[in-house]
Amino acid sequence: MCGIFGYTGKKEAQGLVLEGLKHLEYRGYDSSGIAVLNGARHISVKKTDGKIRKLEEILKVHPLKGTTAIGHTRWATHGTPSPHNAHPHLDGESEIAVVHNGIIENYFDLKKTLEEEGIRFQSETDTEVIVHLVAKHYKGILENAVRRALKELRGTFAIAVMTSHESGKIVAAKLDSPLVLGLGKGENFLASDVSAVLTHTNRVIYLENGEMVTLTGEEFKITNFAGKAVSRKPVVIDWDVTRAQKGGFEHFMLKEIFEQPDILAAILKERVTGTRIHFDELKIPAAQLKRIKRILIIACGTAYHAGLTAKYIFEEFTDIPVSVDTSSEFRYRNAVIDKNTLLIAISQSGETADTLAGLREAKKKKALTLTLCNVLGSSLSREAKGVIYTHAGPEIAVASTKAYTAQLAVLYLLALYFAQIGAGSSKKITPALKEFMHIPVLMRKILDSYKRNESQWRDNAHDFSQRRKNAPNFFLYLGRHINYPNALEGALKLKEISYIPAEGYAAGEMKHGPIALIDENPWVICLAPKSKTYDKMISNIQEIRARSGCVIPIVTEGDEEIKKLNPIYIIQIPEVSEIFSPLLTVIPLQLIAYTMAREFGRDIDQPRNLAKSVTVE
Ligand code: F6R
Repeated sequence: MCGIFGYTGKKEAQGLVLEGLKHLEYRGYDSSGIAVLNGARHISVKKTDGKIRKLEEILKVHPLKGTTAIGHTRWATHGTPSPHNAHPHLDGESEIAVVHNGIIENYFDLKKTLEEEGIRFQSETDTEVIVHLVAKHYKGILENAVRRALKELRGTFAIAVMTSHESGKIVAAKLDSPLVLGLGKGENFLASDVSAVLTHTNRVIYLENGEMVTLTGEEFKITNFAGKAVSRKPVVIDWDVTRAQKGGFEHFMLKEIFEQPDILAAILKERVTGTRIHFDELKIPAAQLKRIKRILIIACGTAYHAGLTAKYIFEEFTDIPVSVDTSSEFRYRNAVIDKNTLLIAISQSGETADTLAGLREAKKKKALTLTLCNVLGSSLSREAKGVIYTHAGPEIAVASTKAYTAQLAVLYLLALYFAQIGAGSSKKITPALKEFMHIPVLMRKILDSYKRNESQWRDNAHDFSQRRKNAPNFFLYLGRHINYPNALEGALKLKEISYIPAEGYAAGEMKHGPIALIDENPWVICLAPKSKTYDKMISNIQEIRARSGCVIPIVTEGDEEIKKLNPIYIIQIPEVSEIFSPLLTVIPLQLIAYTMAREFGRDIDQPRNLAKSVTVE
C-alpha cells in the first residue's frame, strides 16, 4: 500500500506533490511526507503523522522551495505511524532521500549489516535500509547507486530517490508495486496510480517489474535493473479527471453509489450490440475459451463477493463448473488446475498482492488466465493472458461500491458470452439481455426513493445509535442463493466504514448457530426479494421475530406478506427476476452502511486502518 508521487520540472514542486498525494491518499493515510530538492543543492524534508491535510498545514507555515520533489502517503507495515517512520527517509548526511511502497523482506539482515558498518538508523521502517544502501554505493551517478542497491533488496517495491548532488533528477524503480510515469512538457511526474497525474497529463508509461527510470524535466530513460535500455511508447489515458471529484456529493462513496446506473448503462452500451455480446480487448480467442472445462475465480474482499455471485450467474447461463476462492487461500493451496482451467482474477485496483500471486501460481500450472479489473494498465491486467476492463472510472472511496456492481455487470455479460460461443444455453441470451438493459433504470428508482426518504433513513440510523448506547447491538445480514454473497457484502461494507460489528450469513445457516445471537438487540437485514427461496426467507424472519429480533427486510415492491411480520423498516426494490436481483439489493446495503457511518461521524471515504489497494500480503 502507500502512495508515492514525484515531480521534476520548472514549477514549484511542493503544491504539485501535495495535490498528487491527495489523489493517492486512498492507498494509505496514517502519515505523510515530502522531500524537496532546491537549486542550492539541498534536500529539505517535512513529515508528519496523520493525513495529507496536516502536512499541508505545516507546509503553509514552512513552505519548501524547489522544483524537484518526492512525496509519500503511508499505510504502516513496519513501525507505528509517526513522523520519524514517515517517508521520505534520508541517509546520514541528508544528501539522499527515498520514498517506498512495498515491503523489503530482508531488511532485518540488511539493517544488521549496515549497523555493523556504523550506520545509525532513525526509524523502525524496512524502507530506511534502501536509502543507506544507495548512499553506500553512491559515487556521483544516482542511477548507478540505485542499481547496485537494488541487487541487495528482496521483496516488493516501487521507490523514488533523489540526491542533493544531482539537481532536477529522480531515479525510480519497480518490482511488484505499481509505478507510472506521467509525461508533460518540460516536466515529468511519477506516481503509484495514474489518477494522480491525470490533472497534468494523460500521456503515461507504466513501468514493468524489474525496470528503473531516470527522470528529469526534459527527458526520461528506462532501463532494466541490469542497465539495458528499454524503449516503451506512452499510452494515452481517456479517464476524465472530473470523474475523480466529488461533484456536489458529501462523500466520494455517496457519489460513487449514485454513479452506478450510468456505469451499468455504459457497460451495456459498450459490450452489447443488438443481441451480440463482445469483449473487444479480450485477447483470448472464443475457440480457446470454449474448450475450457472449468472456471476458478480468485479475488479478495468485495471483489471476492462478486466472484461468489458469479458462480450462481455462470450456473444459470453456462454449463461450466465454477469454483471461487479468496486469493490469499488459493495461493497457498495445492489447487488442482491445468490448461483446461480458466482462472479469472477479479480486482478493482489490479494490484492486490494476493490476487497477483494467485494469478502467477495459476500461470505456473498452465491455466488460461483472465483479469477482470478497473484500473487500466494495472499489474493484473498486464500479467494475465486476457483482460476485461470494468470501466467504472476511478473509485476513490476506500469502500468499494461502483466497482462491485461494474464487476457484476461484466460477469453477467461474460457468462452470457460463454453461452453465445456455445458453452451454455443460447436460448437464454435474448431474454436475459432484454431484462439486463432495463436494470440501470431500476437502480435509479432505488436511488430516487432513497433521496425522497433520506430523513427516514437517517432517523433509523439515529435510532440504532441511541439503542447502541445501552446495549451491544450489531447487525446480521441474511440472504439466500444468489443474494447470499450480497449478505456478506452488506456486512463487510458496514464493518469497514461504520466499525459496527456485522456478520453475513446464508439464511439457511441461521439455525446452525447464529440464531443464538437473536434477542431484541441486533438488527437483522433480510434480503427477501421475490425468488424461489422467498418462502424460506419468510420462515427465517418469523423465527427471528418469534425471538423479539428487529428485522429490516429488503423486498420486492408490493410485498404485503412481510409487512405482517412487523419489521422496523421495509426497503423496497423494483420487481426483477431473481438472477439479476443482486444488482438491485446491493444498493440499499451500500446506503445502510453509508447512513450508519454518517450517523456515527466516521471518516467515510477513508476508514481507519484500511487502504484502497492492498499491495502487501
Ligand atoms: C471493500 C474493499 C476491499 C477490496 C479488496 C480487493 O470495500 O474495497 O475489500 O474489495 O481489498 O481489492 P481489489 O478489488 O482492488 O483487488
